[in-house]
Amino acid sequence: MMKPKVGRMFLATCVGSFFILILYFQNNSRSGTMQLSARTRLPSKTRRSPLQTLYDGDQTDQAAVQATLQGRRELLEAACRSHTRKRRVLTPEDLRHLVVDDEHSLLYCYVPKVACTNWKRVMMVLTGDGRYHDPMAIPANEAHVAGRLRSLADYPPPEINRRLRSYLKFIFVREPFERLVSAYRNKFTRSYNTAFHKRYGTRIIRRHRADPQPEALERGNDVAFEEFVYYLVDPRTQREEPFNEHWERVHSLCHPCLIHYDVVGKYETLAQDAHYVLKLASADREVQFPAISKSTRTTGDMTAKFFNNISPFYQRKLYNLYRMDFLLFNYSVPAYLKLR
Ligand SMILES: *[C@@H]1O[C@H](CO)[C@@H](O)[C@H](O)[C@H]1NC(C)=O
Repeated sequence: MMKPKVGRMFLATCVGSFFILILYFQNNSRSGTMQLSARTRLPSKTRRSPLQTLYDGDQTDQAAVQATLQGRRELLEAACRSHTRKRRVLTPEDLRHLVVDDEHSLLYCYVPKVACTNWKRVMMVLTGDGRYHDPMAIPANEAHVAGRLRSLADYPPPEINRRLRSYLKFIFVREPFERLVSAYRNKFTRSYNTAFHKRYGTRIIRRHRADPQPEALERGNDVAFEEFVYYLVDPRTQREEPFNEHWERVHSLCHPCLIHYDVVGKYETLAQDAHYVLKLASADREVQFPAISKSTRTTGDMTAKFFNNISPFYQRKLYNLYRMDFLLFNYSVPAYLKLR
């Protein structure tokens, strides 16, 4: 986070380059987008842009999905209006998580623990010039190598603006506490994730465990969910550095109140929503979204069990931390939560 004074200076020096970014946000009413797609309808272009296809709304076979997605967009917009204060100018750094596909005019904001490995694999197929065909043939670690996919943050401002205006912007979200438990299970309960144990586990144990064993302090490989929660709600944690992306809130990773996502997909309806996006991009014959394996999935029941051990005091603190993700994406307060 920038200090306010430094922020102002930064803003002053960059005001020229971000001027267009500001314009983008002022013009981004729904009708603005429509006008734009009408203007970009060039006769030479054989493929219709997915953004046009979405807002022309002529996919009659998809009417139900379309209505659901419109409901989500409207709810998000209303929630942003009532829960965020002043709007600010977007900086390229805010666009770090947006993956660019120039072939199909897509921008995907990736959120870890929401089928993001599979989406990255699919984006590699889509942008790979025929190098890849089957997304599942791409090893998971390969999909996460930096530089395999282009980030919107790497483009100069005019190029950023052009893409923000004319590409289909989409995001996939998930029930916030299911996502959190999924991150905990994946990063702290699997013996192979030694990098996370060393980097985060040792610190969590040092700070949040009374009388830790020397071996636990050294290896950081047996963090309890409870201790992970103490770490998340401790104000020191975010003062020192931003949350790791696996537990950072979608609100902070993808800025859904500043970037107007055209499609808000949900993990809960992943197959349907993913297919819809690929169909909009006319890519549904090029690539199929991989089915998720059910065996290791974190479910709502599992999440409830993890919260059993957490005191109401900490449950409330944790809810407040993730509150925006609940509100913006229409997730209700989980029934197992004891908020009072
Ligand atoms: C929000 O969630 C409620 C309860 O799950 C659901 O009935 C409603 O349709 C959702 N609204 C939108 C716009 O998605």
